[in-house]
Amino acid sequence: MSDAAAWDARYAGGVFAFGESPNRHLAAQDWRLRAGMRALALGDGEGRNGVWLAGQGLEVTSVDWSAAGLAKADALAEARGVGLRTVVADLVGWEWPVGAFDLVAWIFMHLPPEDRAVVAAGAVAALAPGGLLVLEGFTPAQEGRRSGGPRDPSLLWSATLVREHFAGLEVLECLEGTVMLDEGPKHQGPAEVVRAVLRK
Ligand SMILES: C[S@@+](CC[C@H](N)C(=O)[O-])C[C@H]1O[C@@H](n2cnc3c(N)ncnc32)[C@H](O)[C@@H]1O
Repeated sequence: MSDAAAWDARYAGGVFAFGESPNRHLAAQDWRLRAGMRALALGDGEGRNGVWLAGQGLEVTSVDWSAAGLAKADALAEARGVGLRTVVADLVGWEWPVGAFDLVAWIFMHLPPEDRAVVAAGAVAALAPGGLLVLEGFTPAQEGRRSGGPRDPSLLWSATLVREHFAGLEVLECLEGTVMLDEGPKHQGPAEVVRAVLRK
């Protein structure tokens, strides 16, 4: 089973694995958002974040390699009465639009190191000057916790990795520590994360 197929299987059924409300770190950036901004939601899964951004008046493109996830994203957008462009693609081989987005949301997408570097470079290229990257991911301290995240430690984020991968961006916020997650059945309870906001 490919990884995309594994995500399709996780997204089968009516329950939203990470809920229908946006990630709290992303939602906390609402004061930075303006209607008409162009947003790219990476690994957007069932679309909770892309749909929320669209509800703020942004023009949103959601990319994920799970067709099942993005079908639910389309349905959620329709139910909320907002427009959402969904693209089923492996971000590692994606043809990245250049300078095309004012916001890139990278929420809980954990990739193997080589892929992470490729996708990070694509995300930076996709940002327009002044554009924002909002990222949240689990850190190695998450090991042993039951609130989500990959088992393979090489997939995990850290504040150091964020600064390395996005060295060309200005760091507006970058915090690593313990938060309480309440995001659908898959992300519940105390969790160890990095939360960052960077500007091109
Ligand atoms: C933990 S889920 C998070 C989903 C969403 N960002 C959220 O916060 O609700 C990780 C997502 O990344 C997607 N993903 C992982 N690797 C990918 C890749 N190489 N290309 C596209 N999507 C990918 C998965 O399909 C999955 O939907």
